[in-house]
Amino acid sequence: METANLDWSNIGFGYIPTDYNVRCYYRNGKWGEIEVSSSDMIPMHMAATCLHYGQEAFEGLKAYRGKDGKIRIFRIEANAARMQSTSEATLMATVPTELFVEMTKKVVSLNSRFVPPYGSGAVLYIRPLLLGTSAQLGVHPADEYLFMIFVSPAGPYFKGGFATNPYVVIREYDRAAPLGMGAYKVGGNYAASLRANTKAHELGYSCEFYLDSKEKKYIDEAGAANFFGIKNDTYITPASYSVLPSITNNSLQQVALDLGMKVEKRQIPIEELDTFEEAGACGTAAVISPIERIDDIETGKSYVIAKDGKPGPWCRKLYDELTGIQFGDREDKHGWVTILDEE
Ligand SMILES: Cc1ncc(COP(=O)(O)O)c(C=O)c1O
Repeated sequence: METANLDWSNIGFGYIPTDYNVRCYYRNGKWGEIEVSSSDMIPMHMAATCLHYGQEAFEGLKAYRGKDGKIRIFRIEANAARMQSTSEATLMATVPTELFVEMTKKVVSLNSRFVPPYGSGAVLYIRPLLLGTSAQLGVHPADEYLFMIFVSPAGPYFKGGFATNPYVVIREYDRAAPLGMGAYKVGGNYAASLRANTKAHELGYSCEFYLDSKEKKYIDEAGAANFFGIKNDTYITPASYSVLPSITNNSLQQVALDLGMKVEKRQIPIEELDTFEEAGACGTAAVISPIERIDDIETGKSYVIAKDGKPGPWCRKLYDELTGIQFGDREDKHGWVTILDEE
């Protein structure tokens, strides 16, 4: 197995170029052949709908190198399904699951030397991207699309070990409207989150915390990650129309059941934060980022969750189990992992 000459434990989260990306064009009502490219650039019409009218969707998933040297990709089909729901919401061409899976496997295989070694904590991040490419002046859906996938190695999330972080409730800016695009992975949601995220950082917090944008009563998301709280051996996560259905959260709910916990998906009033024994933000980036406290600076209330400042026992167990499945150290009971054929 040849690996790229990179300092795997210090590669961070910037864009690191790899050898290839894969592309497929949708024209005349159908998807064409898969193309392999070694260019980082996309030639684009200046009136493309992705540039003006937000016909843009993306996904994020990862490939992991196991102790056995094999490459495992986590829940490709779930990411394909989420991109399909984003396509439906934005009237973009839908990428069939088989095409999504084939292109994901292909781009990872072609760049296998960039899948970091087991034990480095680093992984290969996979970024599928769907763009409306044909020219429009009026606000209409495009009739041509580009679906592409690139990859980039990403460093270990917890360099100093699994640790807790402080969050701050931001009421000033919403990332999504109640019946808007919050449940879909479109770029505009991230543009809408930049001010809240920057403000949280300026105030010294690790991330912003969103309440529902209609009533500001219930918990929505923890920055670009889903929220869960734990009490009485129960994993509780918000039911909301405007949060992104996180594949990590969905997996953690199953792992929680497997570990003998109960699971509740329901509205969570902000005051309930006082009653959680543990809480976390979850997503592909960190799997679980345990929450130390959530400050509501407008009311002056501080919800301290990790009283000793450390991740709790359930967070640790859930994290160990899910990352164990991803790296191939624990049994993949639910068929979540695709093992790549030997290169
Ligand atoms: C807004 C938002 N919520 C939640 C998540 C977590 O989703 P997943 O677990 O599928 O990475 C992400 C990251 O993709 C996100 O951007």
